[in-house]
Amino acid sequence: MSKPSVINIGFCGLGTVGQGVWKHLSGNRALLEARLGSKLELYRVAVRHPAKARGVKIPAGKLTTDPLAVATDPAVHIVCELIGGTTLARDVTLAALAQGKIVVSANKALLCGFGAEIFAAARKGGGHYFFEASVAGGIPIIKALREGLIANRFGRIYGILNGTCNYILTRMEREGISYADALAEAKRLGYAEADESLDVQGWDTAHKAAILAFLAHGVWVKTDQMLVEGITRITQTDIVHAAQLGYGIKLLAVITRNFETNQLFVRVHPTLLPRRLVLASVDGVFNGIAVTGDVAGTTLYIGCGAGQDATASAVIGDIADAVTLLTSGKSVVVPDEAAAIHAGGRQGVQLAPLESVGSRYYLRLEVRDQPGVLAQIATVMARNRVSIESVIQRGNRGPETATLILTTHQSNEQAIRATLAGLAQLDSVLEAPLLLRIGDFDE
Ligand code: HSE
Repeated sequence: MSKPSVINIGFCGLGTVGQGVWKHLSGNRALLEARLGSKLELYRVAVRHPAKARGVKIPAGKLTTDPLAVATDPAVHIVCELIGGTTLARDVTLAALAQGKIVVSANKALLCGFGAEIFAAARKGGGHYFFEASVAGGIPIIKALREGLIANRFGRIYGILNGTCNYILTRMEREGISYADALAEAKRLGYAEADESLDVQGWDTAHKAAILAFLAHGVWVKTDQMLVEGITRITQTDIVHAAQLGYGIKLLAVITRNFETNQLFVRVHPTLLPRRLVLASVDGVFNGIAVTGDVAGTTLYIGCGAGQDATASAVIGDIADAVTLLTSGKSVVVPDEAAAIHAGGRQGVQLAPLESVGSRYYLRLEVRDQPGVLAQIATVMARNRVSIESVIQRGNRGPETATLILTTHQSNEQAIRATLAGLAQLDSVLEAPLLLRIGDFDE
């Protein structure tokens, strides 16, 4: 392939992230060109509504309403797919890759749903797919896993990957406000996805966890193979009691691989994180990730995880890698090949059974305040071999009801699920218990 003298960048979609990329590519163009030794041209832009007012000014001659025309334009070297969703975005991506182009994307849902197809299309067409912006906004975590930490096998990766949830939990903790009020604030500030349930039910975090698990272990774990729980049932009672016990509450993705049994497990759930851990003080819209490798030990990454500028920074990082690839032929490690290296060969990786996934647990129960209720609860727990570590009882909404906060000793997901099912059958337990995991991490 001859080296292009000017690199033409095509945009498919120009929403919040796209406008951020345009703004910073234009604003820092001289610096970027000097760093990369190449001329960059913001060549063509596909948008649904050309006349719509935007925060960036696009010359009319560059606009089109046809993203496939941008994706297949022979003059375009790099296609920024910033449409979102998995329908048109998938068509655009596959069309560009079929022509050997480099596609840069922030689209975690597309990658999770169609990652294998996308990488196969890239291999077949001679194209490349870069996706740094899909996980943790401005933190270059994909580059860290794929390149900086390539020497390592990853026993554990855990992190705060959703800025909206972290913002909500931080506001609840700091200001004492309700979940509903904190969510309304997060939406007002533009942190949440268009469908906020993706954030608060844990699915956005699960998509990001799947991408990190793929990079680290070379297999796509589907979200229905994970444990995924969101933050919608967390109340001030939980925030206050967690604080009294020495914990903050964070929505975490936890990816663990046991190299002896070759078992992998991916889970997303609100977690009581000991205050002494660095990630427990990662607040607001920030993300934080702790990566434990067998060579480097634990390394930590903290930064802005959502929003226009942070995400644009990651997209532009990928554009820079794409430019280097186009001009020097030097590729970054192709992600799925890197994953196979990390996995030590991906054959034989199994999903861990629930009884092997352990933790200590926090349970909040709303119960009738009557003689014998505590004994009934203890009986269900004993039957499932879940050992109680502590119990706190508080008066509750009505005269004859109480809130019980229990913590357990180390148990496992199978036993705690059976416990929850047993508790739900007791007349004295008035609503489904709230279950949180306790994150006894060393860092
Ligand atoms: N809604 C996402 C978040 C945006 O809050 O983290 C970035 O993926």
